[in-house]
Amino acid sequence: MSIVHLNGQNLPAEKACVPVLDRGFIFGDGVYEMIPVFGGRPFRLTEHLQRLENSLDEVRIPNPHTREKWAALIQTLIDENGDGDQSLYLQVTRGPAARDHALPENPAPTVFAMSNPLHPATTETLAQGIKAITLDDIRWARCHIKAISLLPNILLRQTALDAGAAEAILIRDGYATEGAASNLFVVFDEKPAGVLITPPKGPRLLPGITRDVILELAEAHGIDHREADIRHEDLARASEIWVTSSTKEILPVTTLDGEPVGDGKPGPVFRRMYALYQANKARLQAG
Ligand code: PDD
Repeated sequence: MSIVHLNGQNLPAEKACVPVLDRGFIFGDGVYEMIPVFGGRPFRLTEHLQRLENSLDEVRIPNPHTREKWAALIQTLIDENGDGDQSLYLQVTRGPAARDHALPENPAPTVFAMSNPLHPATTETLAQGIKAITLDDIRWARCHIKAISLLPNILLRQTALDAGAAEAILIRDGYATEGAASNLFVVFDEKPAGVLITPPKGPRLLPGITRDVILELAEAHGIDHREADIRHEDLARASEIWVTSSTKEILPVTTLDGEPVGDGKPGPVFRRMYALYQANKARLQAG
């Protein structure tokens, strides 16, 4: 039975209850974070807490805790759930209030957190890559906010699954922006070597923490990289496409819309970046 955190208390998941009038339940009025935990330590905690603060500010929910309080709360929950690799989910809603679109005057935000075992991609998935399809982005205009109201993302991901693919790559105004629950990287073969491209941050995509790690690793290891818009039609000439997230890490897309990406196998830039990412992670796991 997993232990969760609810409003200052750690308790078994089955015992945790939220009032039905919580605006998270009624309106999807809240924000969240998903923090990977390696060897019992949260990865890039400062960056995740910064993004949480940004999301809270954007939707005008008062931040219920200081950074120190967040860090302590998270570490206690990790420790209570074992010291292995985990995915720590953190959610803040605007809390219970009479149902009214207008913001309540004195909100009492609900803080919820849980931790689950982290399941990295299998060797088989990494060797074969995944299938993806492109879909029109049906989400709103503020995708940089990590909002809990994920109905469009859920429907997009399910449309991909129904088509036998693992992820949807979203297209807005003719540009590929990100996945339904991941960021997007593309390698284009240019002379003298391939260049790794990811769309720039902005309201069309979530500023992924994994995305930043990959850009830092590329910079540190001399992999040519750029933040630039990616036109939908240019995906067809990509030699590699990857999707990235805290829980999925880096996944090579080897089939897009039924066509092979490059030679249809995970490419050399992916293999290099994957090794760099894993080495970085192993250092953390070892403390
Ligand atoms: N989602 N873009 C979207 C729309 C996402 O939902 C996510 C992650 C990312 C990658 O961000 P990061 O590298 O910080 O995980 C990009 C999480 C994992 C989720 O909703 O479960």
